[in-house]
Amino acid sequence: MMQEGKESVGKPEGRWLATMSKPQRRELWAEIINRTKTMAMLEIGVWKGEFAEYMLRHCPTVARYYMLDPWMHLDRWNKPANIEQSRFEDIYAEAMRRTDFAASRRVVLRGATTQVIENIPDGSLDLAYIDGDHTLRGISIDLIRTYAKVRTGGILGGDDYTPTIWQHAPGFEPSLVCPFASYFAEAMGAPLVIYPQNQFALVKQKDVDGRPELFDTTGRYGEAALLPHVRRPLWAHPSKLIRRLARPFVRPPFA
Ligand SMILES: C[S@@+](CC[C@H](N)C(=O)[O-])C[C@H]1O[C@@H](n2cnc3c(N)ncnc32)[C@H](O)[C@@H]1O
Repeated sequence: MMQEGKESVGKPEGRWLATMSKPQRRELWAEIINRTKTMAMLEIGVWKGEFAEYMLRHCPTVARYYMLDPWMHLDRWNKPANIEQSRFEDIYAEAMRRTDFAASRRVVLRGATTQVIENIPDGSLDLAYIDGDHTLRGISIDLIRTYAKVRTGGILGGDDYTPTIWQHAPGFEPSLVCPFASYFAEAMGAPLVIYPQNQFALVKQKDVDGRPELFDTTGRYGEAALLPHVRRPLWAHPSKLIRRLARPFVRPPFA
C-alpha cells in the first residue's frame, strides 16, 4: 500500500519512474527519494559514505537510513575495491565522519549482507540502493535478500548496471548486475527501469502477473544475454578431440 501523500509507485508506475532524469546518479536518486517521500531506506555498499551523506543532506523525509557494509577486506571478493584491512578502517571512519551530522537518522550495519540484513524488518523499506558486491554471487545475494525487506510498491535499485560484464581489468571477476537484475525483475513481475550512469530501479509488485515492463531510458541495452560477452574456452570446445588435445594446457575451473 502506498502511504498517503506519496507519488504513486507500483504497477504500472515503472513508466512514471522512467520519467526521472538527472545528469548525475546522486541527483537522480535524491529526486526519486524526494518524489516518493521515502522515509526508510537502505544502502548496501557504503564505502566512504559519499552517497549516504548526499542523501541525508538532500532528502529530508528520510528518517531511517541503513548503512550496510562490512568495511573489511573479504577473502571471496575479487574486485578492485577489496583493499587491505588498515585502509578499510580509515574508510569506515570517513563514512562515519561524513554522516555524523545525521547520526539520529542513520543505522549502521557493519557486516556482509548475509550477516546483518536480518536486522531490518521484512517489508519495512521504501527504497533500497544496492552498490556492494557486483559479482554474480554478490548481486544475487543482495537482490534476493533485500527484496523481502522492501514494501510492496517500494523501489529496489542500484549502481553498476553496466552494459558489459567486463567492468574491470582482466583478472577481476566480471560484474553481473546486468543481466542478473533484469532476470530477477522478470521473475518477480517487477517493472525495470534502466537509467544513464549504469543505474537501475525496479518496483516491487504485490502479485506476479504477466510479463513485466522494461524501460531502457538510455537505448544502450540490447537483449540481456551472456553469449555476446563471453568466448567459449578451449576446454569447452564442441570437438572432443580438441578438448582432449587442449587438456594439458587449459583446465576447466571447477574440474
Ligand atoms: C563501490 S563501493 C560503494 C560506493 C558507495 N555506494 C558510494 O556510492 O559512494 C562497494 C562497497 O561494497 C562493499 N561490499 C563488498 N562486499 C559486500 C558484501 N558482501 N555485503 C555488503 N557490502 C559489501 C565494500 O566494502 C565497498 O565499501
